[in-house]
Amino acid sequence: MSESLTTEQLKEIAGTFGTPVYVYHAEHINGQYKKLTAAFARTDTRFFYACKALTNINVLRHIKSIGCQVDCSSVNEVKLALLAGFEPEHVLYTSNGIHFSEIEEAIGLGVNINIDSLSNLQKFGARFGHSYPVGVRLRPGIMAGGNLKISTGHDKSKFGIPIDQLDKILTLVNEYDLLVRTLHIHTGSDIQDLDIFVKGIEVLFDIIPKFRDLSSIDLGGGFKVSYKEGDVETDIGLLAKKVREAFSDHPNPNGKPLQVWFEPGKFLLSAAGYLVSEVNVLKETNTTTFAGLNTGFNHLLRPMFYDAYHRIENISNPFGPVKPYTITGNICETDTFAWDRMVNEIREGDLLVFYNAGAYGFEMSSNFNSRVKPAEVLVKDGKAQLIRKREEFEDLLRNQIL
Ligand code: LLP
Repeated sequence: MSESLTTEQLKEIAGTFGTPVYVYHAEHINGQYKKLTAAFARTDTRFFYACKALTNINVLRHIKSIGCQVDCSSVNEVKLALLAGFEPEHVLYTSNGIHFSEIEEAIGLGVNINIDSLSNLQKFGARFGHSYPVGVRLRPGIMAGGNLKISTGHDKSKFGIPIDQLDKILTLVNEYDLLVRTLHIHTGSDIQDLDIFVKGIEVLFDIIPKFRDLSSIDLGGGFKVSYKEGDVETDIGLLAKKVREAFSDHPNPNGKPLQVWFEPGKFLLSAAGYLVSEVNVLKETNTTTFAGLNTGFNHLLRPMFYDAYHRIENISNPFGPVKPYTITGNICETDTFAWDRMVNEIREGDLLVFYNAGAYGFEMSSNFNSRVKPAEVLVKDGKAQLIRKREEFEDLLRNQIL
């Protein structure tokens, strides 16, 4: 089974379900997961899909069906994961900035937790002491890549407990006899440089000996995917080798081998997803030809929010002459997907596809301008199944007091 959808399949789905529509390809997810498990076959590893990338329950069920576990960033994501059928011990809750009551709720649901502030760690100790295992999220002081919006381990990041407050963590561990099972770091998303992961591990090696109950090290997510022509994906084989070498150089002083956890989001979902949209209007000006689509940053925020590049193709005119277009949305704000992008000649009514739209695409969508969210379709075994209906006008009124 091919690991990408053909433009013919995408056109057919657009015809059946309308546009804009998000389309996800199950077999692609399987392929990415296999790359991870094959590369890390010689290391005791657990993979938790970072479901903030995409939480459609059908996708969660699919992720479960291939044996992957799940990482959540809110207690509602935890509830979705449980609803999708994950066993609590296969669910991880890595929170930040949350009220302690959410941690209590997650513990009530029996899932693994990583805590990322001294304040919540203290509350956790006072309430649960040694009775529930806990992970501690650290801020390792590592800058990953150049994009501050998606780099999370540096010295000004809000995430994790700064590593220089280790003595305070240890004071709490002693005071409440905490059962610290996991140390967690996540340095960011779209990390090209493998040595960032190695640096993270090295930071942890210095402090691992101080936690006698440790059984796992959680290195978070952040593997790079290929967004642009010529981009490379994280070399997972090489990463696995580096991780293996780092661990064999530093056996756990308490004698127990440490399990390695990862929380990949993009790596599993990004290239498995497509956003198919239709061209509403063409506008010629002195300098620019605009193609205005029936979508906008309300559906795909990444270009405007991160300056992210998404490959765009005109699947209705694949052999048309290539010309420059500024591709925009229909939102009453600047919502440019691409400036002066070379695309096969665009005509009103053509279908344009955004690639790499599976992770943080639908999931970051909104109802801005009172526009409805798109439909979602999952293709599995060659069959396209609607997994979320397109919203309707009535959905905009839901919860409003009329
Ligand atoms: N673990 C933690 C604790 C995280 O905060 C994240 C992402 C992940 C795992 C998964 O990272 P991934 O493997 O997907 O890179 N919305 C942005 C990316 C920010 C993700 C935030 N946390 C984007 O569209 O590029």
